[in-house]
Amino acid sequence: MEPYRANNKRYNTIAYKRCGRSGIKLPLISLGLWHNFGGVDDFENGRKIVRRAFDNGITHFDLANNYGPPPGSAEESFGRMLQKDLKPYRDELIISTKAGYDMWEGPYGNFGSRKYLIASLDQSLKRMGLDYVDIFYHHRPDPETPLEETMMALDQLVRQGKALYAGISNYSAEETEEAARILNQLGTPCLINQVKYSMFERWVEEKLLDTVEDLGIGIIAFSPLAQGLLTDRYLQGIPADSRAAKSWGFLKPDQVEPAIDKVKELNTIAEVRGQSLAQMAIAWLLKDQRVTSVLIGASSVAQLDDNIGALDYMQFSAEEIVEIDTILKR
Ligand SMILES: NC(=O)c1ccc[n+]([C@@H]2O[C@H](COP(=O)([O-])OP(=O)(O)OC[C@H]3O[C@@H](n4cnc5c(N)ncnc54)[C@H](OP(=O)(O)O)[C@@H]3O)[C@@H](O)[C@H]2O)c1
Repeated sequence: MEPYRANNKRYNTIAYKRCGRSGIKLPLISLGLWHNFGGVDDFENGRKIVRRAFDNGITHFDLANNYGPPPGSAEESFGRMLQKDLKPYRDELIISTKAGYDMWEGPYGNFGSRKYLIASLDQSLKRMGLDYVDIFYHHRPDPETPLEETMMALDQLVRQGKALYAGISNYSAEETEEAARILNQLGTPCLINQVKYSMFERWVEEKLLDTVEDLGIGIIAFSPLAQGLLTDRYLQGIPADSRAAKSWGFLKPDQVEPAIDKVKELNTIAEVRGQSLAQMAIAWLLKDQRVTSVLIGASSVAQLDDNIGALDYMQFSAEEIVEIDTILKR
């Protein structure tokens, strides 16, 4: 691949939104490296996607210690992409990683102990060849470790300069309030909560969106396309190269069939709107001003381009909202 020089019009496509009441703005669309960037995947394909993302002003790339497979390999691949392409642009990037799920064997390789979080971020920095990440997340609540211990580890990592901001992921409204209270006391405010939110997964609407707005914390919605269900990917069955067909994919074939009737109906609405279903699903999330960014995945440059196209048309009529709600609540 030819040497990379970022598109000099990269800041003309995407808008940026303030993350809660922090000083940081995130692009309305961010790119996650959970699938498609591991050791099992084609490195050059992933590299093309990352280059195209940055060329379009996607400044935020999201990782976690365990992304792969094998675990750690997405960070290694991203480290190579930084080295080859993006290193000169480091100050234009918001790179996040996380610890919380199973990463190494024994009692110190998962959940929320200080021992695990601090060791894990050190490993992540080595894999990516970075001095610091921009956001370090606790990946999921830990029912056993005192929240104070987990939050003190995040605070320490920020004070050491290994992370610029602290985040939480998969925290409920109540857990978010408590984490924010502790972090505020420590002097390291909580920047953001990363949560699953899509047309098919709406738990955050009950309380969390109001809570984060009150607290001045941002929200980034992961799996906004329900891992590909909310696209045209599965309209004619399960393609051999799709996530649902891969043995390591988190979307299982038996999750496709029960969703497909609704997907077809939503697809018809998207067609009438003149956009793809993926674009409608992204725009639908961004219509709520409390959502800071939508964290997509993509297995090709074409998918990424399609998703960025969501920003061309984000209005919904009241009738469309009702029509979509009716389908989703059935
Ligand atoms: N904090 C957490 O616990 C957590 C958990 C999960 C994810 N995340 C983050 O969220 C990111 C996104 O998650 P996700 O990958 O599940 O997101 P997603 O956007 O819901 O799904 C991405 C998948 O949808 C398909 N797709 C994307 N755009 C498409 C398009 N325009 N047309 C047709 N198909 C399209 C592709 O599937 P194919 O591969 O089949 O082509 C792609 O791999 C992750 O990378 C990660 O950073 C965080």
